[in-house]
Amino acid sequence: MYNLSETLDKNKISQQKRLKKILSPIQTDLSLMESELELQLKEIELSHGKENELSRFSDKLLQHPFKTGGKRLRPALIIFSSYAAGRRGLDESKDIAKLATAVELIHSASLIHDDVIDEAMFRRGRMSAAARYGNKMSVLIGDVLLTQFYMIVSSLTNLAADTRFALLDLLMTVTKRMCYGEIYEEKLRSGQIKVNQELYLDTIDNKTASLMSGCCRAGAMVTDTTSEEQNMLSKFGYHLGMAYQ
Ligand code: FPP
Ligand code: MG
Repeated sequence: MYNLSETLDKNKISQQKRLKKILSPIQTDLSLMESELELQLKEIELSHGKENELSRFSDKLLQHPFKTGGKRLRPALIIFSSYAAGRRGLDESKDIAKLATAVELIHSASLIHDDVIDEAMFRRGRMSAAARYGNKMSVLIGDVLLTQFYMIVSSLTNLAADTRFALLDLLMTVTKRMCYGEIYEEKLRSGQIKVNQELYLDTIDNKTASLMSGCCRAGAMVTDTTSEEQNMLSKFGYHLGMAYQ
């Protein structure tokens, strides 16, 4: 007899295997990013003035969304893009791992906030932060992650100051667009504005494609590339994001 749950499990395993294969050329970079992510979460924890019941609670709240990992698709786009843009050696590895971590923090914050908006019980097969800790806590911990993103990019002092500012500008513009994407989606979902193809595509561009496109551009920006090459990679990320959503 056909077993739906078994078929879904099998599909998931084969998807995970395929993703692992796709990501295998950048495994070293992704491992660096995972270590950096751990370090950044520790750094956030260290920003408590004192250790007490409140700080211990906040640390549990912070760790919750990171317990189940994730596909690391956006960090992977930064890393692949840096190679596509001509990165050769390992010199920039640390900076790229930091940038990839910063973007994963934006993505995580967006999912935490999205689960509040969607009233989602689950995220990655586990209780969402909203379901586990409530909406108020989730909004606030998402905001904490966003401040850390800003701090990481500001700390990339190996990069020229204008590149650092351009990265901040790019990623903050993307974050703003993601917020608008969610506003558009809510408005369309409410039925107050009637959905059509143009409005739908504009919504998913802001909500999802803008970050993927931004990741591809950011990976190219840390390598010595022309703006034309950056535009081409950004376009690739845009199309990937549109197809993904
Ligand atoms: C998942 O969509 C959500 C997004 C792609 C973006 C969410 C963006 C915000 C909440 C704006 C705030 C942004 C920041 C950075 C704080 P989905 O609901 O279609 O997919 P899902 O099934 O994974 O929930
Ligand atoms: Mg959602």
